[in-house]
Amino acid sequence: MLYFEDLGQRVEYLWQRESYEESVFPDIAHNVLSSRAPGEHVTPTSIAQWILGRTSLPRQISLDESFGQPPVTVYAGRRFFIDVYYWVDGTTMIHQHGFAGAFHVLAGSSIHGQYAWREARRVNAALLFGELTLRTMDLLPTGTTHRIVPHGGFIHSLFHLERPSVTVVVRNHGTQGGPPPYAYLKPSLAFDPFFQDTLTTKTIQLVAMLHRAGDPAAGDIVAELLDRADLHTSYFVLRRCLEVRDRGLAGIEGLLRRTARAHGDEAVASLRAAFREDARQGALARLRSVIQQPEHRFLLGILRNAPGRDTALRLVSQRYPDERPVDVVMRLLGEVAPEKRLGIELGREELDAVRARLEGGEGPVLPEAAESLLQALLQAG
Ligand SMILES: [Fe+2]
Repeated sequence: MLYFEDLGQRVEYLWQRESYEESVFPDIAHNVLSSRAPGEHVTPTSIAQWILGRTSLPRQISLDESFGQPPVTVYAGRRFFIDVYYWVDGTTMIHQHGFAGAFHVLAGSSIHGQYAWREARRVNAALLFGELTLRTMDLLPTGTTHRIVPHGGFIHSLFHLERPSVTVVVRNHGTQGGPPPYAYLKPSLAFDPFFQDTLTTKTIQLVAMLHRAGDPAAGDIVAELLDRADLHTSYFVLRRCLEVRDRGLAGIEGLLRRTARAHGDEAVASLRAAFREDARQGALARLRSVIQQPEHRFLLGILRNAPGRDTALRLVSQRYPDERPVDVVMRLLGEVAPEKRLGIELGREELDAVRARLEGGEGPVLPEAAESLLQALLQAG
């Protein structure tokens, strides 16, 4: 496509003049994307039409849909490439990057959170304990360009609101010898999502098989495995058990206690908190397929991302500057509450309790599932 050809050659020219030094690449990518804004030249549909009309494509960096629905490489440069990511129902975890560059919001908008990480305990390079804190959370409108600094300098998450939301990313192939591109689970866990070793992979596959087959020895086998496993393997096994047992954290409480005997209470407290948050995030992410209207997606985005009601209400006033934030939240909640579209019981009584607590006052505590799902509206912060 002529536009991406021009964009790519411009980036190539500027970066070559800097001898391909990585530290200047985010600025170059940001400046070129800002000065030649994609939205003035292409649309999500025109890019799709262009690709569908071709008989060959630039070398595709990613053929699967693990990041983007789909991702498409539209320009392959010498040491960098340009990708377009379409997002329909997908979303990202909190993550950092093993590459440098910049992204531009071509269509749609997102809730964008940026975080800081302080490492407290390194189990190994692929599993860290520490403290994840929110730095900023804002709405990212169409037309925004953002630098991507590799590694811990830019930890973020995007929750896309419109279908599709589309981003254009100018990025290099990745830094050599840097740390893994960690993903994070609030409040205190970082892990390498691409880590694999053969025995671990086969272990968690067999653990899942034993559970699914209803093998009566499954519980004992897993418990014994956890008695002798290293902490990293225990993390994988526990996470898999949580998925296959399908009874929430209560279903693996015995296994967590066993892990605590082997690896200490502190490590298990971090794992327990991370698993609890992961389950909450997963429940909200699954609701994306049934809650598709942008306004309702926005409510879902707030529930999934905001740490508490101050941030939640600030995001609401960014999107609805002329309305009272509490009224907006209650209107949206009232629209999705019927037919248990949030997966929880939200009748008149519960909605009144949410309003009272959103206003900062006292209100009755809701059942645990509702407290967890609605914590962004019910808790301070
Ligand atoms: Fe990212």
